[in-house]
Amino acid sequence: MRLFDSHAHYYDEKFAPDREAVLSALPAAGVERVVCPGCDLESSRQSMALAERYPFLYFAAGLHPENLEGTTLDDIDALRPLLAHPKCVAVGEIGLDYYWLKDPGERQRSRLYFDRQLSLAEELDLPAIVHDRDAHRDVMDLVKAHPGARGVFHCCALSAEDALTMVNLGWYVSFTGNVTFKNARRALEVMAAVPLERIMIETDSPYMTPEPYRGKRNDSRYVNRVAETLAQVKGLSPEEAAEATCQNALRFFGLEDK
Ligand code: NI
Repeated sequence: MRLFDSHAHYYDEKFAPDREAVLSALPAAGVERVVCPGCDLESSRQSMALAERYPFLYFAAGLHPENLEGTTLDDIDALRPLLAHPKCVAVGEIGLDYYWLKDPGERQRSRLYFDRQLSLAEELDLPAIVHDRDAHRDVMDLVKAHPGARGVFHCCALSAEDALTMVNLGWYVSFTGNVTFKNARRALEVMAAVPLERIMIETDSPYMTPEPYRGKRNDSRYVNRVAETLAQVKGLSPEEAAEATCQNALRFFGLEDK
């Protein structure tokens, strides 16, 4: 089985004690590629440094809506040298989070950052990795305002209907370990509704650890649990689900001949 973890935060301090051991063990566990998205300038730089060190690891650079405090819009321009790096495969992670941001002014500001970063993705012809928490309507409206942008709804929480709308606009959806939780009905409906060729899998490590490992720190090995759930929903073998999502991610991130 070959696995592609399309979203894991290996700069996170939870990996500080044993990052090298965790990453070095991934190829032997069948994890062929990993994309590590940053959430601010610092973590985007750390992700780049990891990508320079591990051949199977790629990175994305972006300003996450929860990490805007103390930033200015000029910081978006500061992403440019990172986005020009040969191992940078996306702008991300970017988006809106109305669960954490309650203040209307802060929400407005986060929409401006998201809008500008979608423009940057369009300009540079890079896909966007989009975070959407309790902000579906505004995220979709901003995405639709950028018809030249392409991307993925990471840890997809859209309804099946909304997910299909975005897929019809050329976008992808990606699922994490939370599809293995008991209350995952909605995500499983989206999995069933969206064509297999638009689905990627991810861990969102160190978070979103799938069953039966829930409560432990997550890492890319456990993306096989997401592949297994997808296989059940689509009536495939786990190997077929893993291979299809691997090919989708290689195509999405432009890594087919790398
Ligand atoms: Ni993330």
